[in-house]
Amino acid sequence: MASAKLLRQLVKTGAEGNHEAFKRVSEQLIKEERTKNHHLLANDLEKVLYGRRNSVPSMHSVLNDRLPKDKERNLQLLEIKEPVRRIEDVVLSDDNASLIEEVLQEHHRVENLRSYGLRPADRLLFCGPPGCGKTLTAEVLASELGLPLAIIRIDSVVSSLLGETAANLRQVFDFISTIPMVVLFDEFDALAKERSDDSEHGELKRVVNAFLQMLDAYEGKSILVAATNHERMLDSAIWRRFDEVMIFESPNLEQLRRLLSVKLRGLRREFEIEDARIVGLFKGLSHADVERVLRRAAKDMVLSGKDFLSERHLESAIRREDARKSRTQRN
Ligand SMILES: Nc1ncnc2c1ncn2[C@@H]1O[C@H](COP(=O)(O)OP(=O)(O)OP(=O)(O)O)[C@@H](O)[C@H]1O
Ligand SMILES: [Mg+2]
Repeated sequence: MASAKLLRQLVKTGAEGNHEAFKRVSEQLIKEERTKNHHLLANDLEKVLYGRRNSVPSMHSVLNDRLPKDKERNLQLLEIKEPVRRIEDVVLSDDNASLIEEVLQEHHRVENLRSYGLRPADRLLFCGPPGCGKTLTAEVLASELGLPLAIIRIDSVVSSLLGETAANLRQVFDFISTIPMVVLFDEFDALAKERSDDSEHGELKRVVNAFLQMLDAYEGKSILVAATNHERMLDSAIWRRFDEVMIFESPNLEQLRRLLSVKLRGLRREFEIEDARIVGLFKGLSHADVERVLRRAAKDMVLSGKDFLSERHLESAIRREDARKSRTQRN
C-alpha cells in the first residue's frame, strides 16, 4: 500500500482542485508502487492518470492497414510495433538516463514549450555497438509517451533503382508526418551500404544526404531516432542535425549489477547480485550477451529440476557463450 503521507497529499491536492500538484503526487505514488514491484497496479494507475496508453494497440492496427510500400517490389517500407517495455526495463548510463528523462519531460510538457515558441527535442541519434540498447531505448520512449513505434526497414527502402530509394524515403517521411509516433531508422547508414560496389562511399553520401535533407525539412510531431553502429558517421554535418546524441556502450560493473537485477527479477537464486564476484563473471559482455547468458542459465536450472539459480548455472552458461563467440569469430 502507498504510504499514509502520500495518500494524504493525494486526497488534499484532489480536494483543493490543484491539478498540477495532484499529478505530481500521483506520479510519486506510481513510482513508489513500482519500486515495490507492484507493476500491474502501477501500469493501471498510469492508464487512469494519463488515459492514453489504451489507444496504442488500436492505433497500431489502424496504421498497419496503410503502410507505405516500395512500388517496384511491393515491399513494406516500415513496420509498426506496439511498444511493451518500460523505462525500468532498460539499463542506461547516467548521461543517457538524464537525456531520456529530459526528452520525456519535454514531450510531456510540449504545450508549455510551444507557448514560448520552443519545440521539444525530436531528432535523436543513437550510436554504439550491437546489443547495447539502441532499439530497446526507442521502444521505451514510445511506451513512456503512449505512442506507436515505427521501425523503418532499411533493406526495403534501399532499391536497386537509384531514384527509387529517394522516392521510398519520401513516402516514409510523408507517412510519419501524418501521425505522432516514435520512428526508428535502424542502421540508417546502411541506406547505401547495401550497394557493395566501388562507388560505395559516394553512394553512401548521396543517399544519406537525401535522408538528412528530409530530416531537416520534417515538421511532423513524431520523434525521429536514427541508430548506427558506425562511429565514422559521426562527422559534424551529421551531429548538428540532431537535438541529442546518445552514445551506447557495453555496461560497466555498476550497470551490469543493475542489468542483473532487472533481468533476474522474480527468479529465485542462491547468490547475491551485489556480490562483486558474480558481477565480475559478466565483464566485457554487451547487454544482449548478458541477457542470452541468463536465459541459458535459467533454462539449465529448469531442465535440471532445480528451483534456485546458482553460480554454477551462470558459469556454465558463460562458458557456452565464450565457445559461441570463438566459433563465430572463426567463421
Ligand atoms: N541497456 C539495456 N538494458 C536492458 N536490456 C538491454 C539493454 N541493451 C540490450 N538489452 C537487451 O538486449 C536486446 C537487444 O538489444 P537492442 O536490440 O536494443 O540492441 P541494439 O543496440 O539496438 O543493437 P543493434 O545495433 O544490433 O541493433 C534488447 O531487446 C534487450 O532485451
Ligand atoms: Mg537495434
